[in-house]
Amino acid sequence: MSRPEAMDRVVNLAKRRGLIFPSSEIYGGFRSTWDYGPLGVLLKRNVKEAWWRSMVQLRDDVVGLDAAILMAPKVWEASGHIATFTDPLVDCRSCQERFRADQLPASGACPKCGAKDSFTEARQFNLMFKTFVGPVEDDASVAYLRPETAQGIFVNFPAVQTTSRRKPPFGIAQIGKAFRNEITPGNFTFRTREFEQMELEFFVPPDEGNKWFEYWCAERLSWYTDLGIPENHLQLRRHAAEELSHYSAGTADVEYDYPWGWGELEGIANRTDFDLTQHAKFSGEDLTYFDPATDERYIPHVIEPSAGADRATLAFLLDAYSEEEVRGEQRVVLRLDPRLAPIKVAVLPLSKDERLSPVAHEVSDALRQGFMIDYDETRAIGRRYRRQDEVGTPYCVTIDFDTLDDRAVTVRERDSMNQDRVSLDKLVPYLSERLPR
Ligand code: GAP
Repeated sequence: MSRPEAMDRVVNLAKRRGLIFPSSEIYGGFRSTWDYGPLGVLLKRNVKEAWWRSMVQLRDDVVGLDAAILMAPKVWEASGHIATFTDPLVDCRSCQERFRADQLPASGACPKCGAKDSFTEARQFNLMFKTFVGPVEDDASVAYLRPETAQGIFVNFPAVQTTSRRKPPFGIAQIGKAFRNEITPGNFTFRTREFEQMELEFFVPPDEGNKWFEYWCAERLSWYTDLGIPENHLQLRRHAAEELSHYSAGTADVEYDYPWGWGELEGIANRTDFDLTQHAKFSGEDLTYFDPATDERYIPHVIEPSAGADRATLAFLLDAYSEEEVRGEQRVVLRLDPRLAPIKVAVLPLSKDERLSPVAHEVSDALRQGFMIDYDETRAIGRRYRRQDEVGTPYCVTIDFDTLDDRAVTVRERDSMNQDRVSLDKLVPYLSERLPR
């Protein structure tokens, strides 16, 4: 199967099985926006949960935050977003389509209509979405939807540092929506105008910036491999000096080998003291840290691993998708790490026979306390296994007529398709052992 074909199949599966749908579809969709359906919302929550667990829960040097999306407009002046968060925009004079000037093909031909040298002069286009706060739509009421969650962390630095009694090196982590009026959204959920970020701002003494930058590059790469993405599908690409954002002294992207080629999954930047210095200047507040151990006062430097929840979800989905032949039949399997799988266990009574139903409900009631489960009693058991395989359910529990006598069930594992007979009183520990958090 070619790579574009694999992409089509994943997009198709995502729609067919309730993972990801085009948004506003009954109105014909809306400009590359997507909705996560019943299984997609579980998958993306698991991605975010895995990030939070690794970045906050398992560390004693990171605390969490959930800042507002709408912030004082001065924040965006201080951060440099009003002045510099722009992309160069050109129009094709022939077909009127808009493009990013820095993404045009070297041939100079319009990617849509093929016209040669038909582009207007590039003009800078600010990517922030503007809105108005309150009933009057004038310059004084302009506000912006945040284009990154990071600034909510910077402006809360003194409040979080003092209330959580942390000293650098320590980090503040946040997961939340961000908005960018992208000129060319596309590639499914890869580039959209509304997306979710998982960002850590890690505050360190000024002379420790480089050390922590390297630490976070290694740490973040291993987060993806630990959750099942093979090393050869990932690379760390260090930015050349001319590519760096206005705030960065060094950036490396974690890239994934998407079906259309290498693309950014996550950016890791050494933001130095840029943001805190700017906010101190624009707000007039003291954003320094005083270290009583050394009697020194300084503005911490910041290392920022910034990941996209939607891009990570897409990469896990693409990587997990596989097709294989089993006894002459095609099987689609999402080989998702069990921690990411939307449904952990499917409870499948062999038939709708009324003798099986009470035990099957007893099993599902016991399992749903600890796991996200699905209960499915329609169609042949083989068909039901396939339905679970294609959404990545790691275990299926089948209740059959023997269960009524031996109080045991058959547990089938997704990848090997091996089956174990497990007694009902051992079922929860059996699954807990195999479904780590
Ligand atoms: N605070 C730094 C920052 O926002 P970024 O590289 O612009 O850095 C970080 O964004 C991550 O957010 C990206 O690596 C990507 O995963 C995600 N992201 C950025 N723009 C996106 C978009 N238009 N659609 C989906 N995800 C996006």
